[in-house]
Amino acid sequence: MTSTVRKAVIPVAGLGTRVLPASKAIPKEMLPVVDKPVIQHVIEEAVTAGITDIVLVTRSGKNSIEDHFDCHYELEAELERKGKTALLESVRNIIPDNVTITAVRQHKALGLGHAILCAAPIIGDDNFAVLLPDMLVNSHGIETPDLKTMVNAYQTSGHGQIMVEPVPMEHVDRYGVVDCSGFNLEPGFSADIARMVEKPPIDEAPSNLTINGRYILPARIMAILKDTQPGAGGEIQLTDAMEEYLNEGTLQAFYMKGKTYDCGNKSGYLQANVVYGLQNAETAESLKAFIKTLDL
Ligand code: G1P
Repeated sequence: MTSTVRKAVIPVAGLGTRVLPASKAIPKEMLPVVDKPVIQHVIEEAVTAGITDIVLVTRSGKNSIEDHFDCHYELEAELERKGKTALLESVRNIIPDNVTITAVRQHKALGLGHAILCAAPIIGDDNFAVLLPDMLVNSHGIETPDLKTMVNAYQTSGHGQIMVEPVPMEHVDRYGVVDCSGFNLEPGFSADIARMVEKPPIDEAPSNLTINGRYILPARIMAILKDTQPGAGGEIQLTDAMEEYLNEGTLQAFYMKGKTYDCGNKSGYLQANVVYGLQNAETAESLKAFIKTLDL
């Protein structure tokens, strides 16, 4: 059995241009989905999957992300004084005691592959997860959340896992796309990847199965990234490093069971708020009643 996956890299250095002006002074990762910032949903997903060491790849102007997971002594003292126990718990216990969050800086915006490489000194020789924080993975009502299933699949097979989902063919040029040799992949299952390509022209895409921002990768990917040259968009691409790895090892596509919401764009962000609002005990009933009154 392959060793347990304990480390995760979360790149948060992006500019958030697709959600401007909201993200001008606030990191896009700090925009709330119902009652938590997007990044908290993502970190909770990682922790549920068994991750204990989280590495944020960040930049100047994004300190509020680290602050959110730190102690806020004055607030906690005030809530304690007022006996607001539930609120106190919600700000005090954001991450369990055994989870650490470390931050490294990405000094140049050279692409996702470069951002991941910035975490190499902390990842060392360990396998690691990557979670792209724009994407919320909703596993509501699914017994084993998708990222946890990927960790389990990695540990039993020893093969890196890359979460995928189908998108309409006309959108494939926005994503990394995998080729599973025509294998008819079902939700909840993994299959070997024959090839993958970052943002292919629509008529050259090998399938409509796209990479949606969750990866469980062998440590070797870091070494490959060191030599990965700029690719699509002139950026150092994680997809290119993974494609290179296929020359020496196996990576599998994991077809998610849940649904993703891309909070890096306005429409996906709004959809996430509606769906998560309908799944939240505090807001579900009133939101449902409100939606029913809309003349759609
Ligand atoms: C990145 C990855 C791409 C993936 C996408 C998912 O692209 O490079 O393979 O499909 O995230 O959101 P970006 O959205 O950063 O351009």
